[in-house]
Amino acid sequence: MEILISEQDILSRVKELGANISSDYQGKEIVLLCILKGGVMFAVDLAKCIDLTVKLEFMSVSSYGAEKVSSGIVRIANDLDESIEGKHVIVVEDIIDSGQTLHYLLSVLKARKPASIKVCALLDKPTKRKVVVDADYIGFTVPDEFVVGYGLDYDQKYRNLPYVAILKED
Ligand code: IMP
Ligand code: MG
Repeated sequence: MEILISEQDILSRVKELGANISSDYQGKEIVLLCILKGGVMFAVDLAKCIDLTVKLEFMSVSSYGAEKVSSGIVRIANDLDESIEGKHVIVVEDIIDSGQTLHYLLSVLKARKPASIKVCALLDKPTKRKVVVDADYIGFTVPDEFVVGYGLDYDQKYRNLPYVAILKED
């Protein structure tokens, strides 16, 4: 395991993102839509750094296929129980890799007529993009390596690490 982004660097970046969101949405109420499970650490820390009225909502999405490769087939395992119609929604994701998960999810969410919808991703791995999808807020751009920690898993493990690390095979 090689540390790529330290706990300190993550938390200071999360503060900056929270400040940016607070100023971009001044006077508005927002829905922070956390995509489980990977987005959970990021979403709760981010929520604490936003100085607005925030509703924290969760949705869980799973993609089928081998653990280290996105299959592109996305299934909504647990949907929202509140309507997002007319709401300002920010989707909080752990990482954008091929972009397929987010592409699918955004099409589903946009059909529900939110007032606006933006994406905030902790990590962006742009070299692996298969479909065009851009995040409005990005924590860090990472190289083409499999990373774990701060919510990101390998086989459901390592989500609890307070930093982001490169998973080495052995
Ligand atoms: P996409 O559909 O290819 O953009 O994949 C997005 C999802 O794949 C993320 O929400 C993660 O759950 C998972 N994922 C992609 N790359 C990594 C990685 O490097 N480490 C851990 N999970 C990853
Ligand atoms: Mg995952």
